[in-house]
Amino acid sequence: MSKVTVIGAGNVGATVANTLAHKDLVKEIVVLDIMGDFARGKALDTWQQAPIDNYSTYLYGTDDYKDTAGSDIVVITAGVPRKPGMSRDDLITTNANIVNTVTKSVMAHSPNAILIVVSNPLDVMTYAAYKASGLPASKVIGMAGILDTARYRAFLAHELQVSPKDIQAVLMGGHGDTMVPLPRYTTVAGIPVTELISEEKLTAIVDRTKTGGGELVKLMGTSAWYAPGAASAQMVEAILRDENRVFPCCIKLEGQYGMKDVFLGVPVKLGKNGVEQVIELQLNEAEMQLLRDSADSVRSVMAVYDNM
Ligand SMILES: NC(=O)c1ccc[n+]([C@@H]2O[C@H](COP(=O)([O-])OP(=O)(O)OC[C@H]3O[C@@H](n4cnc5c(N)ncnc54)[C@H](O)[C@@H]3O)[C@@H](O)[C@H]2O)c1
Repeated sequence: MSKVTVIGAGNVGATVANTLAHKDLVKEIVVLDIMGDFARGKALDTWQQAPIDNYSTYLYGTDDYKDTAGSDIVVITAGVPRKPGMSRDDLITTNANIVNTVTKSVMAHSPNAILIVVSNPLDVMTYAAYKASGLPASKVIGMAGILDTARYRAFLAHELQVSPKDIQAVLMGGHGDTMVPLPRYTTVAGIPVTELISEEKLTAIVDRTKTGGGELVKLMGTSAWYAPGAASAQMVEAILRDENRVFPCCIKLEGQYGMKDVFLGVPVKLGKNGVEQVIELQLNEAEMQLLRDSADSVRSVMAVYDNM
């Protein structure tokens, strides 16, 4: 039976813990926050939901890393979210220190854990966790692609008036405005989306997806949590069930797509070892150029981190 720790009991962290508990998949979930009582309260609230929603997963909150010992997976959501007008990259100074400290504390008690990073700027925080952890690259995975793809699928489903369940899509690149949605690889129950929607409407949806996070920040004054929390819980599930599910995730590229030493969203198989395989799509030149541009953008923020 497994143990999962969620670091950060804020909007995203609490949602990861709550969604995961509903899957009734793990024995216990530890929620850790520097605000210990806040974490204790969030965990207790979700545990008190168990008799109503029929799950057995036990949850408790803490501010002591000893309680996280022996975790199989640790989801890192600690850090500040965006406020209106901010880009994800604006968060680097604050969140880099947090992710660095948190990762070292986590590893001291769970040296074999798989890390799922959620804090922003996502690609660079995944890099930060990779460096601080000393883990192999296959065990440090950033969550962004499932969320960005879900936004794209949701917009398409509404436009086409079909169930979002039937939209299959993949989206690559960094978790920012340079992300690369791939209409060529988007289908509605196997039908190429390009046969069902005009180019103009599809372009508008792609553009809305790229700024989908910012749209929510503008509406709510802070960033989203339900879909990000659910996306992170889906990654935990794929790993614990050893499902080999294919998701776009942020990982360290080691020669794939002709790139090295950059953290970028690409389709991977997720299973019990973390990243089981990186899937290399046959991108055309235009798509490849967009991916390279996105990688350059991530690299420039990685350089900021390296110089801190
Ligand atoms: N990857 C994505 O797609 C995605 C989506 C949404 C949000 N995010 C990011 O996730 C992060 C969390 O967002 P949120 O909305 O939950 O924010 P939030 O402010 O609601 O929660 C953050 C929590 O982190 C805690 N924290 C801060 N420093 C800590 C430390 N050193 N140790 C332990 N806990 C600490 C805070 O006390 C707070 O409870 C942000 O960086 C946000 O940008 C990423």
